[in-house]
Amino acid sequence: MTALSVSTSSAVSLRADALVVGVAKGPKGLVVAPGAEAVVEAFEGKLAEVLTTLGATGAEGEAVKLPAPAGAKAPLVLAVGLGSAPEGAFGAEELRRAAGVAARTLAGAKKVALALPTPSADEVEAVALGGLLGAYSFGSYKGEVAKAPVAELVLLVERKASKDAKAAVERAVVVGEEMNRARDLVNTAPNDLNPKSFAAIAQAAGKEHGLKVEVLDEKALAKGGFGGILGVGVGSANPPRLVKVAYTHPKARASLAFVGKGITYDSGGISLKPAGHNETMKCDMSGAAAVFAAVVAAKRLGLQVNVTAWLALAENMPSGSATRPGDVLRMYGGKTVEVLNTDAEGRLVLADAIVRAGEERPDVIVDVATLTGAMVLALGTRTFGVMANDEALRTRLHETAGAVGESSWPMPLPADLRKGMVESTVADLANMGERMGGGLVAGLFLQEFVAEGIDWAHLDIAGPAFNEGGPHGYTPKGGTASAVRTLVRFAEDTAAGE
Ligand code: BES
Ligand code: MN
Ligand code: ZN
Repeated sequence: MTALSVSTSSAVSLRADALVVGVAKGPKGLVVAPGAEAVVEAFEGKLAEVLTTLGATGAEGEAVKLPAPAGAKAPLVLAVGLGSAPEGAFGAEELRRAAGVAARTLAGAKKVALALPTPSADEVEAVALGGLLGAYSFGSYKGEVAKAPVAELVLLVERKASKDAKAAVERAVVVGEEMNRARDLVNTAPNDLNPKSFAAIAQAAGKEHGLKVEVLDEKALAKGGFGGILGVGVGSANPPRLVKVAYTHPKARASLAFVGKGITYDSGGISLKPAGHNETMKCDMSGAAAVFAAVVAAKRLGLQVNVTAWLALAENMPSGSATRPGDVLRMYGGKTVEVLNTDAEGRLVLADAIVRAGEERPDVIVDVATLTGAMVLALGTRTFGVMANDEALRTRLHETAGAVGESSWPMPLPADLRKGMVESTVADLANMGERMGGGLVAGLFLQEFVAEGIDWAHLDIAGPAFNEGGPHGYTPKGGTASAVRTLVRFAEDTAAGE
């Protein structure tokens, strides 16, 4: 993991492999962002001019390298684009992305100094987090390792900001490390990460961080009547698990339940996915990875709130023992569901976990799931959908996401779409309804399992959970840790009594 520190040294006097400055698009061309004054001075005021000559514009995502001026202790300067120069301070998300681009571009370097604008602790935290996330690399299965991630990032801050900066960096380290943990889980090949091994990882991490972890194996699930989780997992040689990870604070005044879809591989089951639709389906446990990362972060941050993560883990496979389209499952809590399509499996494992979570009467349940292709069609690959049984909660989650730089959009749960779903001829519900609005139908299905009087929200992260395109900003290819930051901030706000 990349080390992070704060320094009040001047940018030119710090020994490093590279020195990062921010540049932006001003009304009259490229401008150098605050924080790099000493570098500009070393260039005798000509840095913007030199960069413009090199073709730099300050656009977001841009990274231009140039040799450092005489006198600087680093040999290389990297200018990263922050986009349009704002009237006031630079936005946190622009800074996160630029720091991410810098860390990604400079992979292979040992020590990198960041001279980006950090007028207050918020910006320090953004730069620190962007740097940590951008430096992420999956300790992959390759024999030949690509360039090692930057070993050390040094944030240059002004002396008056340095005390707050320390705390900001500490928070960024927790969130960044836990997001990278979630990314690792998602990127691990599905022959290595199955319900049992995921549960074991949760147990080990729980032990390390002092969290209470309870695992229900297939026998316990059968005894408890968890027909949804069992019905999805029954076709696989790797049996399912329900994992509860609890963080409690002695002075907590609120309790949150985070429920994650943890399909370690989604082949579709008997309703098999066609080739071209299953290559990335190891990502179908991204929700479970997110809620797990969030509860560990809540503990490490010592938040004054109770947080319980529920990981609904199963592998959806076709086999002679698999659930058939037409089978009826008796879910945890007693409702029956006719499985019309075994590829609509996420809602089945989540339903059991939502009922179980509701038994503990939390104030809020938030589930996180790579639930539907329909949501990807609706919102694209960088935005998750937010549904809820309470409009204020939906708004709050959407705004929380925005505040931490995650793109989301509120989606409705239209009553008319419920009809198709409850029209099973043999069971209380079918796991499929109308095709149109499929993402909302899935949300409506989950809503059926929320206990009376509990506020519930559903984040469908099928689009942003896994980046199949090229890396951008602080987002690598593969697992992204979508929703982790939103959950952590939501827990922080709840702890603060909001
Ligand atoms: N895991 C998929 C949804 C998904 C699609 C996640 C693309 C990430 C990227 C889910 O289990 C699924 O297969 N959903 C079906 C539901 C349908 C059968 C009602 C879908 O969206 O097609
Ligand atoms: Mn599926
Ligand atoms: Zn799935």
